[in-house]
Amino acid sequence: MTSVAILGCAGYTGQETLDRVLAHPELEPVALGSNSLAGKPAWALDPRLGAADLPQFVPVAEAASAEADVFFLCVGHDEAAAFEPPADSVVVDLSGAHRLRDAAVAEAWYGAAPGAWSYGLPEVYRPEGRLVANPGCYATAALLALGPIADLADDVLVDAKSGVSGAGKALKATSHAGAVLENLTPYAVGAHRHAPEIAQQLGFAVCFVPHLLPVRRGLLATCYAVGASAADARERLVDAYGDSHVVRVLPDGVAPELARVQGTDAAEVAVFEDRATGTTIVMCALDNLGKGAAGQGIQNANLALGLDETAGLRLQGVLV
Ligand SMILES: NC(=O)c1ccc[n+]([C@@H]2O[C@H](COP(=O)([O-])OP(=O)(O)OC[C@H]3O[C@@H](n4cnc5c(N)ncnc54)[C@H](OP(=O)(O)O)[C@@H]3O)[C@@H](O)[C@H]2O)c1
Repeated sequence: MTSVAILGCAGYTGQETLDRVLAHPELEPVALGSNSLAGKPAWALDPRLGAADLPQFVPVAEAASAEADVFFLCVGHDEAAAFEPPADSVVVDLSGAHRLRDAAVAEAWYGAAPGAWSYGLPEVYRPEGRLVANPGCYATAALLALGPIADLADDVLVDAKSGVSGAGKALKATSHAGAVLENLTPYAVGAHRHAPEIAQQLGFAVCFVPHLLPVRRGLLATCYAVGASAADARERLVDAYGDSHVVRVLPDGVAPELARVQGTDAAEVAVFEDRATGTTIVMCALDNLGKGAAGQGIQNANLALGLDETAGLRLQGVLV
């Protein structure tokens, strides 16, 4: 078995990563790092974990020095930047610390430039080596929609909406129920950290506006690819994802929906043409904690370890 340490295991992406590790035939959790739960049994996070044979939580620093084949960094970018990768381990960083290749851009958006790792969005940008930067949730959706057609568009605008788990587990005034329920809020308008990440991968700047949706999980990106033909875009996307078990290109006229991807590691992509202007619209729906975080993290670890790419992933949702 391949041993796994999860740093930040009590947070949303950490608990989702643990869930995928428990469903994985080759991975075995050996260190669960959480400062808030250190010294407590795994079921302190969720009573359903009582049935699994799991180690108790340890402080994040202790998990960081565990003997493990794979480390998942499910922590903030400062903590991830400070992590020293052990010589032979695979490390998947779910934070933004190692995504941006240009040091000045990283410094401007994150206040630090700890160095870029291989950017791992397997269907479009295959990771290489053992240090992998897992893409941001919005960036994953935008790049699944736009990555294969980047050279077809003259200009791109991304309008995206995410459920509140995208903001993390800690309570903030902007993410408590009173602020979120029955509301829809744009935030970080024109100034979100995923914009430079999308631009880096596409090779040109994008106009990106995120919104907070009053749902727990799920993310929808509506991307306007000005100048691209819808037929060419569809052909490219079918070429890119036709064999994928993770990304589905929907039939003509069918729009992506959160309900079909929530709680899963799958993504849906659809192409439309605006009747009035001819603008090509590419949409992508995914779960911000699934394909947008933990699911993609496991996919990247599988590739780095030479395992079946989809082992441990949750690819089917439930019908409603
Ligand atoms: N949320 C997403 O959709 C998403 C998607 C992609 C990437 N990411 C990135 O992944 C990293 C982790 O994000 P996250 O959303 O998992 O953050 P989170 O839920 O806020 O968890 C991060 C850490 O905060 C602590 N914490 C704060 N309040 C807590 C509470 N009430 N209950 C339990 N733990 C609490 C925990 O650390 P201790 O137990 O050690 O105190 C936890 O490990 C970030 O760098 C983020 O940018 C997030």
